[in-house]
This record gives sequence, C-alpha cells and structure tokens, in this order.
Amino acid sequence: MIIGLPKEIKNNENRVALTPGGVAELIKHGHTVYVQAAAGLGSGFTDTEYKNAGASILSAIEEVYAAAEMIVKVKEPISSEYSLIKEDQLLFTYFHFASSEELTRAMMERKAICLAYETVEKTDRTLPLLIPMSEVAGRMAPQEGAKYLEKPMQGRGILLGGVPGVKPANVLVLGGGVVGTQAAKIAAGLGAHVTIMDINLARLRELDDIMPANVDTQMSDAYNIREAIKFADLIIGAVLIPGAKAPHLITRDMLKEMKPGTVLVDVAVDQGGCIETCQPTTHENPTFVIDGVVHYCVANMPGAVPYTSTLALTNATLPYIVQVANKGWKGACLINEDLKKGLNVVKGEVVYKGVAEAWNLNLTDVNEVLAAAL
Ligand SMILES: NC(=O)c1ccc[n+]([C@@H]2O[C@H](COP(=O)([O-])OP(=O)(O)OC[C@H]3O[C@@H](n4cnc5c(N)ncnc54)[C@H](O)[C@@H]3O)[C@@H](O)[C@H]2O)c1
Repeated sequence: MIIGLPKEIKNNENRVALTPGGVAELIKHGHTVYVQAAAGLGSGFTDTEYKNAGASILSAIEEVYAAAEMIVKVKEPISSEYSLIKEDQLLFTYFHFASSEELTRAMMERKAICLAYETVEKTDRTLPLLIPMSEVAGRMAPQEGAKYLEKPMQGRGILLGGVPGVKPANVLVLGGGVVGTQAAKIAAGLGAHVTIMDINLARLRELDDIMPANVDTQMSDAYNIREAIKFADLIIGAVLIPGAKAPHLITRDMLKEMKPGTVLVDVAVDQGGCIETCQPTTHENPTFVIDGVVHYCVANMPGAVPYTSTLALTNATLPYIVQVANKGWKGACLINEDLKKGLNVVKGEVVYKGVAEAWNLNLTDVNEVLAAAL
C-alpha cells in the first residue's frame, strides 16, 4: 500500500503519526511511505532519519495526499486539507466527529474512508488508542500542578514533597481511571500526600492494593469532596463518564472554601471539565485565577511533550496501521473487530452510531458497507 505522512498543520500540533521506526516497519512489510518534508521535526525526527528508514520525502502536502492510498495523521484534517482528500482515500487519525458537524459533512462529501483512533475499541471496552494520551496527560498533571503552586506562578508557594521537618502538599485526584492513576503515581513519587476519589468501589480496592503508602483512597461523593478541598493544595480533575459531559464535582461556590493559591488542573476539560469554573485554555496561556484559585485547563496537554506523546501514540497505533496496510481497510476490519469499531464514515455514509446521533444523520450498518465493498 502507498502510505502518506503529512505534517500536522493544526495550531501548535507538534506530534507526527509515524516515527522513523514505524516507517521502517511498514517498509519491511513491502509498503511505500511518502513523508512530507519536516513532518517529524516538531517531535525531534529529521527528514534524513525518515529517508534512512526507507521513506521518500515530498516537499508539499498536496503531493502527499495525491500519492497516498492511506493517510496517517494525528489530528483531524482542518478545512484547508478537505479539498486534498480523494474519493476512496483512507484516513486513519483522531477525528472526534461528534464535536464537529462541519468535519463530518466534509468527510462525507469527500467520500473518504475514515477510521477514527478514538473509537477503536477492544472487547473489554477499553480504547487502546486513547489510553496513551491519558497516560501522558495524567503524568503531566502533577508536574504542571507543581509548577503553578510556585508563588511567582500565583500558587500557594508550597513544594509538593515538602522537606524534612515540613509536611508535603496534599493532592486530591478526582477519578481513579487512566489519568487519575498516573497522576497519583507521579504526585506520590514526588512525595506529596495523595487522595484518590472514585465512585467505583472495585477500582478503589485495586488502587488501594497497588499504590504506595502515601496514597489514600476515598469514595467520591459531594460531602467527601467538600471536606477534602479545604485541605488540598492541588486538585486534579480526571473523571470520565463515557459518552457524556463530565459532572461538575466542584462548583463555583466551593472555591471560597479552598486555601488561596490552591491549583486546579482539570484534565477532563475536553469533556466539559469536572470543575464548574474551568474553561479550555492553551499552552500559550494555560492558567487563569478565580477567587484566588489557579485554574489550569489545557485541552491538549500531550501537545506540550510531543516527543513522548508521538512515541506513546505510535506504540499503540503501529500494529493497527501495519494490519490495515497489509490487508486493506476492508480485510483488516473483517478480521479485527476492534478496528471495525474505528470505522466512522465510509464513502459518504455514517457508520458510527454516536456520530449519526450527534448530527441527526442516517446511520448505515457497518456490516452492509463492508459487504458492499468486497
Ligand atoms: N486535557 C487533556 O489533554 C486530556 C488528555 C487525555 C485525556 N483527557 C481526559 O481526561 C479524562 C479522564 O480520562 P481517563 O482516560 O482517565 O478516563 P477513565 O475512564 O480511565 O477514568 C475515569 C474515571 O472517572 C471515574 N468517575 C466517574 N464519575 C466519577 C465521579 N463522580 N467521581 C469520581 N470519579 C468518577 C470513573 O469511575 C473512572 O474510574 C477524560 O475526559 C479524557 O478525555 C484529557
């Protein structure tokens, strides 16, 4: 198969969908890979590394789209890319169609085949291509929190780990899933006293077994949260109710009960946030202060560490990319149910329920589309 790797052009996106190692793997399987010049630079990979791995470098994005049967990307195509997409061209990337009707309709019009990273789903209902980014954001959350707790950053001026003779900071983590677990681990490693709250008792049991002694678990409810925020120095929002907006576990009136200079890192901001006063922010301007409480609400936290994020993402995507390249999208989706769940839009038809419902579009049975395509 001919595979194209364009440079991401969405604002401040420095990740890239394949590393030179990933290119080498595809070449080993007999495929051809075209890489747009400078595609990997933001993540620290040079054109020479891609060339040495066996790719051909093309100078313009138009050439990459024109040459490729499959485009692999990180973020959804932006409007200037729509016209480059050819009928029957396969795009494998994050789409998040349910948050953009314009993108959904554009991909339908282009009659492309859209395999979305975010809906590839295993039989145990986990989302293997979303987990790596949650791991990155989770591990970043205490790091960002520690930075904004410093006085010059408008925080309380407390060191997460304390020092001998001075107590460490209290970190409250709301949600003990992927983000929350990684956040708790890093905060505990820095020496903070950590409390993880979740509504899932089975999950709290698991965390209680595996976490170090400076991590407590507690049932998440309105009373416990209201008590805990009075003592917290750093609060990390990491809840998720799949397919729904995050619940507001911390409301505006609760800010007054926090210590001045408390830092809130609402990682769940991409699902609306679990802190009422959170509004999405960017890496250029990551924080704002309300009632003396510092809010950090960057919606694409992994974007700040593109080297780690690119490697983490490609570790997870590469086996699927290789399978699609080897078997074609139809063959791969017929033998791999996880991948089949990634099909969202196929040749003008919406085949993913959540997307059809979001924009009131007709839902076509994915199996019919696959059968018709054979
Ligand atoms: N900002 C970013 O850059 C970024 C990056 C990655 C992920 N995220 C977001 O982080 C959030 C968490 O992702 P995840 O992968 O950890 O999800 P997850 O499904 O692994 O974990 C969510 C946890 O929240 C718990 N939960 C649900 N309701 C709760 C409540 N009322 N109180 C306490 N806990 C509750 C669930 O039981 C679950 O354990 C998602 O919204 C995800 O999109 C953001």
